[in-house]
Amino acid sequence: MPLVPATPETIAQAAEALRSGRLVAFATETVYGLGADATNSRAVAGIFEAKGRPRFNPLIVHVADFAAAESFAVIGPKGHLLAKAFWPGPLTLVLRRRAQAGISDLVTAGLETVAVRVPDHPVSLALLNSCGLPIAAPSANRSGHVSPTRAEHVAADLGDAAAFILDAGPCRHGLESTIVDASGERLVLLRSGAVTIEAIEAVLGEKIGRSLDGGERPQAPGQLASHYAPRARLRLEAETVGSGEALLAFGADLPDAQGPVFNLSATGDLVEAAANLFAALRWLDQEGIETIAVMPLPEHGLGEAINDRLRRGAAERR
Ligand code: TXA
Ligand code: MG
Repeated sequence: MPLVPATPETIAQAAEALRSGRLVAFATETVYGLGADATNSRAVAGIFEAKGRPRFNPLIVHVADFAAAESFAVIGPKGHLLAKAFWPGPLTLVLRRRAQAGISDLVTAGLETVAVRVPDHPVSLALLNSCGLPIAAPSANRSGHVSPTRAEHVAADLGDAAAFILDAGPCRHGLESTIVDASGERLVLLRSGAVTIEAIEAVLGEKIGRSLDGGERPQAPGQLASHYAPRARLRLEAETVGSGEALLAFGADLPDAQGPVFNLSATGDLVEAAANLFAALRWLDQEGIETIAVMPLPEHGLGEAINDRLRRGAAERR
């Protein structure tokens, strides 16, 4: 049973587990999070596997301070005001991501933006400082269940999927963080939460937009129509590869191909395949490639989320 009281010793052990690519559930001031090293795609794929999420929603990256956020996200003047006012605390900012800063494509689901927050909980902050990594963490519940506000909820939902569940009692807010998209000129509220919109507008001295149902912008939580879609057409369930086509492969038994080939997992490992998916799509989306032939992938486990992404990529060509 991975549930342990959060102490300096267990936090240090959990930090080591994170550094070695394992999952750690931990208390924050909002709800318990299921964390992974945000720079390690395989570890992040493990989050989706553990939650049983049928699609790749982008995840919030947790950092210890403003400087750490700035290392991989561009914080404009308004974002800066909000960060100064509410960090550490239950406000998540969606910001333009710095492409080469090492955050996994799976964390952002291929988007050009990244969601970041500095949590205000001694256990979260101790874990972040101890591991020295940005931690990607959704709420630590099975997909479709309510967010966990006690360590026992996490244990009931996720069992042994995390190496540690750092118990620090009930969460103070018991409600997720407020999400504000600060990546564009006009700020937009994407999810209401523990910080009120009135408090945000008071700090900014102006009204902000609201896109709780995706009306104003496509990337509202749960809507996210603007996920990375390759320029090339995706041809699904491909058994053969035509001339001029690239191949997105899976498994050991590949059809003949003249063009570029990226194998998501030669051993048929769906965690490895999920970890590689967004990087593979970007790499295959090369000059001169009109179509990416995609081999069939199983529909079970992470295959469901991978296939969901590929189907939407096939439908929503940019
Ligand atoms: O309080 C919280 O925020 C908790 C604790 C653990 O920090 N985390 C949490 O994560 O609620 P999650 O994964 O359950 O919700 C994250 C939300 C999702 O609705 C997702 O769509 C949105 O954040 N999100 C993440 N990155 C985004 C982005 N780049 N653009 C728009 N929305 C984004
Ligand atoms: Mg959630």
